[in-house]
Amino acid sequence: MSNDKLRKRVLSGIQPTGRLHLGNLIGAVENWVKLQEKYDCFFFIADLHALTTAYDDSKALKNDIKQVAIDLLSAGLDPGKCVIFRQSDLSEHAEMHLLFSMITPVSWLERVPTYKSKMDEIKGKDLSTYGFLGYPVLQAADILIYKADFVPVGHDQLPHIELTREIGRRFNYFYGDVFPLPKDLLTDFPTLPGTDGRKMSKSYNNAIALSDSPAVIEQKISTMVTDPARVKKEDKGHPAICSVFEFFKIFAGNKKGTVEKECKAAERGCVACKKELAQYVIKYLEPIHQKRAELEKSPEAIDVMLTEGAKKAKIIAAETLFEAKRAMGLLL
Ligand code: TRP
Ligand code: SF4
Repeated sequence: MSNDKLRKRVLSGIQPTGRLHLGNLIGAVENWVKLQEKYDCFFFIADLHALTTAYDDSKALKNDIKQVAIDLLSAGLDPGKCVIFRQSDLSEHAEMHLLFSMITPVSWLERVPTYKSKMDEIKGKDLSTYGFLGYPVLQAADILIYKADFVPVGHDQLPHIELTREIGRRFNYFYGDVFPLPKDLLTDFPTLPGTDGRKMSKSYNNAIALSDSPAVIEQKISTMVTDPARVKKEDKGHPAICSVFEFFKIFAGNKKGTVEKECKAAERGCVACKKELAQYVIKYLEPIHQKRAELEKSPEAIDVMLTEGAKKAKIIAAETLFEAKRAMGLLL
């Protein structure tokens, strides 16, 4: 289980379900951009995981993968500092998943909270598939195959990391120590609300994408829910329960005090407040938009970057897979 790397290893993945949004940026990607400076980082686009739910309509997948890669680069991930790759480019992930499936009790998978909650959330689709049940086994393969020390994730992913450790522990118990057990690295950022006040999420249709144009950003922000008790400007507001105020805290922290004071004193109207916020969000995204425009000029470079990333990842993934197979009694 020797893990004598110079720097600790960080690994995380993101599903290519459409464009990345502000919630992904604040809750995950901005943190990744920081981590790439300090750790040996691997970040990947989890396209196989996307297929666990999008299996019946995967036409958009190819383009979504590319768009997410562009989003990640424009948000500041640097292929010179971290490894960025596409999960399906490495058959090692799939093979590791198969090996782990041999030792993972079905009851462990049925107990994972996201299994039931996602099934309820995504209505009208048959998710009683083998692949969907095995989602966390694939995630364990993603993590353990790199012998990652840390996995930066949000709260919702903690059960998956715990299961990853359980699978690693069980493997080590049966076949000898191969896998160090990873730790989660909780991103301690508040969940960004979407335009409807619920958690910002692609599936709720309440997200502002990194690639939304300034006009779209303005339009979406103008529809955001505010303090519901505030009907007229003369009503005193409660910024603490207003999503617009949450955004101010994140995208224009220095304006927070003024907004709070004026809102509570009924000196600020919600329409004007949202207009002002939109300008700060647009400004915040300006460098990201510029970078995206540049990257879109040479889409082939994205393919090259992903192929190069996969080559680097493969060196490590292939070595661990070899070690695991040998430990299990496979190979000569
Ligand atoms: N399940 C994760 C999510 O939906 C994505 C993911 C797949 C992942 N494999 C991973 C995250 C490995 C961390 C490590 O957010
Ligand atoms: Fe929210 Fe701004 Fe309206 Fe206050 S003035 S309730 S902070 S949108």
